[in-house]
Amino acid sequence: MEAVDREKITKILTAAAAAPSGDNSQPWRFVVRGKSIEFHYIPERDNAILNYEEGGTLIALGAAIQNAELEALAQGYVPHTTFHESGTCVATVEFKEGGQLDNISASLQAAILKRHSNRRTYKKVPLPQEVKSDILDPSISESAGLELSLVESREVMKGISRALTVMEETALGNESLHELFFGDILWSAEENRAGKQGLYIKTLELPPLAQMMFRLLKHWSFARLLAKIGFPQMVAKTNAEQNASASAFGVITATKTNRATYLEVGKMMERIWLTATAQGLSMQIVTGITFLARSLSNPEVARLFSPSEQERITTAHAIIKKSVDEEREPILIFRIGTSDGPTDVSYRREPEIVFAN
Ligand SMILES: Cc1cc2nc3c(=O)[nH]c(=O)nc-3n(C[C@H](O)[C@H](O)[C@H](O)COP(=O)(O)O)c2cc1C
Repeated sequence: MEAVDREKITKILTAAAAAPSGDNSQPWRFVVRGKSIEFHYIPERDNAILNYEEGGTLIALGAAIQNAELEALAQGYVPHTTFHESGTCVATVEFKEGGQLDNISASLQAAILKRHSNRRTYKKVPLPQEVKSDILDPSISESAGLELSLVESREVMKGISRALTVMEETALGNESLHELFFGDILWSAEENRAGKQGLYIKTLELPPLAQMMFRLLKHWSFARLLAKIGFPQMVAKTNAEQNASASAFGVITATKTNRATYLEVGKMMERIWLTATAQGLSMQIVTGITFLARSLSNPEVARLFSPSEQERITTAHAIIKKSVDEEREPILIFRIGTSDGPTDVSYRREPEIVFAN
């Protein structure tokens, strides 16, 4: 079978690699065989404490597959994706000639390279009705037993906002989480431009004083001292207000989790994010706490946290579950709203592509 044009493959895989990934870990590798691309995952790139069931890695791969499918249409191919239950290749996307973008997929495809995490304070205005109906469209919000809940009630949002910040509060007061969080901050524009894994300090949108504090806080001895005088709680309070400035929280829930579930969550999340971007809205994934809470079922992880930390994390998780549907598991949470654009953005390294034919 004739191979797909290399230039087109590069465009498809540049779109794939523009997908979001936890800590910008970019946990993917691509193998091109004739008219198909294999999506291989690298779960070791994501941190074991947070990567419960390798879910973070698989969600990132799902988002990459979503982008690749949209870009394939733009390049004139019809993509057909098959998920694999085991092995490092999580999915194969085959291409047939004759693809074409319709109006909706054209607007999503145009948003792929414009989508960025926006961690600013948002403008606390209601979600525009057309955006709401677009992202709640069943073709986006219901797949493989997943559901998207939009939380817009200010009262419920307040509870979720506070629950989410248990993540930062714990990261500033627990040595293991502190190491994970501060170890992965990129302090220079050069590192960021090189597409290194980690969060570039400027994308965290900290006020100038907090940015200076962060340089000191990266030393555990300093963070531990401040934890004794209630600094983590102060930060949590400020961040809760920032979270609550969104128009809504989106929570993607499932009743069971396996590889396909996480890949589908990634695809759904990316479609929502591209829809929001196309409509000029901002988004931030704020899901750390759900992954941390679920990871506590692993004794190796649980022993890193004191009983009171564990209780705080479990309570935060329960608040989020109760705000949506106690019968379902919240897999991924994001905030969405109106805001100025992000101060800076994260870059990608050159994607690893193997041409196997
Ligand atoms: C599974 C997953 C979890 C994430 N969790 C968070 C989070 O808790 N907080 C946050 O600010 N960003 C989170 N992100 C966003 C990434 O940090 C972001 O996508 C990455 O740094 C690349 O930046 P970009 O989205 O601007 O391209 C998450 C992304 C994924 C895929």
